[in-house]
Amino acid sequence: MGIVIGLESTAHTLSIGGVKESGELIPSCSALFRPEEGGIHPREAADHHSENVSRIITQFLDINNIQKNNILSIAFSQGPGLGPCLRVGASVARALASELNVPLIGVNHCIAHIEIGRNQTGCTDPVLLYVSGGNTQVIARMGDKYRVIGETLDIGIGNMLDKFARAQGIPFPGGPEIEKLAERWVAKNPNASLIDVELPYGVQGMDLSFSGMLTAAQQLINDGKPLAQVCWSLQEHAFSSCIEVTERALAHLGKTEVLLGGGVACNLRIRQMSEIMCLERGASSHWPEKQYCIDNGTMIAELGRLARLSNEETVFSDSKINPLLRTDSTIVSWL
Ligand code: ATP
Ligand code: FE2
Repeated sequence: MGIVIGLESTAHTLSIGGVKESGELIPSCSALFRPEEGGIHPREAADHHSENVSRIITQFLDINNIQKNNILSIAFSQGPGLGPCLRVGASVARALASELNVPLIGVNHCIAHIEIGRNQTGCTDPVLLYVSGGNTQVIARMGDKYRVIGETLDIGIGNMLDKFARAQGIPFPGGPEIEKLAERWVAKNPNASLIDVELPYGVQGMDLSFSGMLTAAQQLINDGKPLAQVCWSLQEHAFSSCIEVTERALAHLGKTEVLLGGGVACNLRIRQMSEIMCLERGASSHWPEKQYCIDNGTMIAELGRLARLSNEETVFSDSKINPLLRTDSTIVSWL
């Protein structure tokens, strides 16, 4: 059976995955760039991707026993993301497509987070809560586009968690460690109250904001509050802000499914909050496996498969990367 290959290289993660024509997913092989100190430097991340891409492709093809003549097309993340990182993925995708003489398909990374979730969970017309490092958006399909109903006005929720973690000496990615510390705090303090660790709430109309929350959380640490307690408070404030906007989107649009996506959707607490909110309104809550919440090549392949079904192809002259590509600038032709 023919296979679509997907290349992901928008930021820290270089990843190659695939999907069979039937829609059956083939898990990705990935390499994560971890800066020695500080935040991500786009050029250093791009160098990491160039150094590892050949090894990761070979590993992916070998592990899955994929013959080159079974490859139907090569999909890649065209944007949004960091220019130097995107350029590595795009160049490799062009080279592979021309060597194998198969079509190239440039896809929108944000929409790939949605489509992998639909593939995995079977939900049909969800409100998507897309919570990753660089992006925080509440999205729903209207007409031929995925529209952004609300989004962060400053930093992405994952970047906020990573920055807070880094200031406490916790290496990237900080989100999983914050989750562990918060879980431990609740286990030890089942009746914990937010009163003495209150933070600014993140809802701004239908939009979100996390930078004030980040500054205030750091201030609590400076005031001597235990790290685990502040991590718990930070999660409670940040996640409930996102869930509130998601709930309002459900109500306004009359939809009945929520789909979580992006790296922060690995977090059990945000999943639980979504589930509780949905139960209370007679809606259902969904999320893909963790390996498909974080950035992965398989989701790029899945969007490539769908685009291919509606005969989309990206000619080389249109295959330039677009670091600022918006969720709502892509026409959804496959539904
Ligand atoms: P995008 O380009 O879509 O913004 P990204 O480059 O941020 O994606 P992802 O892999 O989607 O990459 O998300 C990574 C983020 O997810 C990091 O900020 C990381 O801390 C966060 N994350 C991962 N696991 C958890 C978790 N269990 N709890 C909270 N945050 C998490
Ligand atoms: Fe992502």
